[in-house]
Amino acid sequence: MPDTVPNCATRPARPRVDELPEPGPDALAHSARLQALILDEIAAAGGRLSFDRYMELSLYAPGLGYYVAGARKFGAAGDFVTAPEISPLFARCLAVQCAELLGALGGGDILEFGAGSGVLAADLLEALVEGRAAFGAYCILELSPELRERQRATLAERVPDLLSRIRWLDRLPERFTGLMIGNEVLDAMPVHRFGIADGAVLEGCVVAQRDRLAEAWLEPDSPGLVDAVRAVEGVVGPLPDGYRSEINLRLEPWLRAVGAVLTAGAVLLVDYGYPRAEYYRAERNTGTLLCHYRHRVHADPLRWPGLQDITASVDFSAVALAAQAAGLGLAGYTTQASFLLATGLDRLLGGSDPADVVQHLALVQGAKTLTLPGEMGERFKVIGLAKGLDHPWSGFAFRDLGDRL
Ligand SMILES: C[S@@+](CC[C@H](N)C(=O)[O-])C[C@H]1O[C@@H](n2cnc3c(N)ncnc32)[C@H](O)[C@@H]1O
Repeated sequence: MPDTVPNCATRPARPRVDELPEPGPDALAHSARLQALILDEIAAAGGRLSFDRYMELSLYAPGLGYYVAGARKFGAAGDFVTAPEISPLFARCLAVQCAELLGALGGGDILEFGAGSGVLAADLLEALVEGRAAFGAYCILELSPELRERQRATLAERVPDLLSRIRWLDRLPERFTGLMIGNEVLDAMPVHRFGIADGAVLEGCVVAQRDRLAEAWLEPDSPGLVDAVRAVEGVVGPLPDGYRSEINLRLEPWLRAVGAVLTAGAVLLVDYGYPRAEYYRAERNTGTLLCHYRHRVHADPLRWPGLQDITASVDFSAVALAAQAAGLGLAGYTTQASFLLATGLDRLLGGSDPADVVQHLALVQGAKTLTLPGEMGERFKVIGLAKGLDHPWSGFAFRDLGDRL
């Protein structure tokens, strides 16, 4: 089993799949509609789908995918909790880094990928305005119409005076100068699954069995998959027979597109993952793929397509390599705990008023969850990429682990 239970603030003991709470009839009907669509696509494709395509449909099929349809997703009433939902301290620390980089750039816009409930944007904007940071527009590239509406409502309530500076985008702009940020975006990108049998690479696919979705390990037919697995083996050595894992083949084209539009500025990405040598350790032989459903974590991605999140950890060496190929330099890589402490988490906490007991205790608890090694502190990492911006980042001043990538 993967040894991680990421993107969950509180960690429930991992239940067996049959211990998950049963969805209601409407939710099951919704999932059945998405399954029917996937089964049609399997038939049209000659009997198999790459896992990457299955994950794409499961999460992003128009009107039906997990991130596109109306499920609650984030927060206590949803399926998982992300750092910006845990504590405003997360955004306040990111704001320190953003203000510093905007200052070095002489201004610029901010673009957030996949803005979730809009809480990070609201907290970040409040902190930037409070600190009088110079920036132009705050753009949100959001794939989900439902989340856009939720973000708009959050921002209208929290920062009404700034609404005219907030724009929603469907795709990357043609040119961009400024900062691009994304929290837990890379882990939501569809991945390919692969296995090793007798030294050969197999592809993890989704097929139909008696009108139900099933997993199958077949001769690869996804372009680039075998070469990518062999490139991993070039770093970590031959993977053992029976080994299974995932690989994100979308990372490289995505960063190429990002690098092409960024005229000058930085990209700051926060996610859970490892350097390549650690990600593809021989003992991590069932990969890192996990599903989140109502704060339960399990490992069956075919269970209820459309109702559960599916994620894979991030290979940060792959991010650094793809960034380099895209003309983006590595500004730093460190743990979330180190990054937040280096950008003033303790100072921000020290400024909270203990007399306001409820708020103070919430901030202390949030800081613990964000930084303790057994919580999110070590498992989550921050990577900084830059183009035309030669400036040291304070977030990497305590501990830069870039040489491990
Ligand atoms: C786990 S959620 C995180 C949401 C939010 N950033 C947070 O921290 O609460 C992942 C988000 O990434 C978005 N996403 C995935 N791939 C993306 C891409 N290529 N461009 C923009 N957003 C993307 C998804 O739509 C989803 O909203």
